[in-house]
Amino acid sequence: MLLASPGLPPALLQLQGRPGLPLAPDALRPAAAIDPAAIVADPASAAAWPEPAAAIAALVNDTHGAGGINPGDRRALFHLVRTLGARRILEIGTHIGSSILALATALQSLGGTGDAGIVSVDIADVNAPDAAWRAAGMAACPRDNLARLGLAHLAEFHAMPADRYMDGTADRFDLVFLDGSHKAWAVYEDVALALRVLRPGGTILLHDYFADARPITPDGRMIGGPFWALQRIMAECPAITVLPFGRLPWPARQGTPFTSLALVARHQPA
Ligand SMILES: C[S@@+](CC[C@H](N)C(=O)[O-])C[C@H]1O[C@@H](n2cnc3c(N)ncnc32)[C@H](O)[C@@H]1O
Repeated sequence: MLLASPGLPPALLQLQGRPGLPLAPDALRPAAAIDPAAIVADPASAAAWPEPAAAIAALVNDTHGAGGINPGDRRALFHLVRTLGARRILEIGTHIGSSILALATALQSLGGTGDAGIVSVDIADVNAPDAAWRAAGMAACPRDNLARLGLAHLAEFHAMPADRYMDGTADRFDLVFLDGSHKAWAVYEDVALALRVLRPGGTILLHDYFADARPITPDGRMIGGPFWALQRIMAECPAITVLPFGRLPWPARQGTPFTSLALVARHQPA
């Protein structure tokens, strides 16, 4: 256990004094089977993206303050779902529905049949008349935006804390996208619980993972929680590793090529 020190980042201090949770890496896809560069270079995804990209951009407020993931990250999600062949997706943190639109269009582009679908969980009722979509000046809530694109059948929404949902569900997922609370302890807990709801070969995708707790945009802003949470997780369970995407071949965060997206995978020591 770390000792309290005024020199430590607040996100790291948050993790102190809390007993560890069970971390079960067995279901995770091996890191050796994931190539982030190949995911973003996938030509079929590149060809399929322009149409959904334009449709989503017409519905979502993409200004930074609105709080949804940026258009470049949406494209990365689209490529990722398609190249990993994910069918059942759990999203933590629906907010204005920027990411769920990318996830749903990706599933649709793969046929959208069978058990394909997204469970999206947010502590707030994101489809309420006064929810974040309205504060962002958008015309419709996430559920109605999915309906406008003919994708409502692919999503179900739960207004509850992430830990309560993951603790109680019997559903199992190929991909868990964590974009809920960014506090270090909450991310630690969310990863521990996400590991329990993965199907074999599944992956966890983190948003706002700033490698080495360094900013990636000129404004110098950075969220430390996910990075410090994963530092502790990897120290407690060396079979878990993180694969940050780092740089994308298209504009992403604040127009830079950099992204805070990172995959959690299973590390197989040589
Ligand atoms: C950064 S926003 C997510 C953005 C969203 N992915 C998008 O692209 O529009 C974070 C969301 O997580 C939700 N949240 C915060 N803490 C949570 C928790 N403990 N459980 C579930 N959702 C939580 C917030 O209400 C907020 O809507």
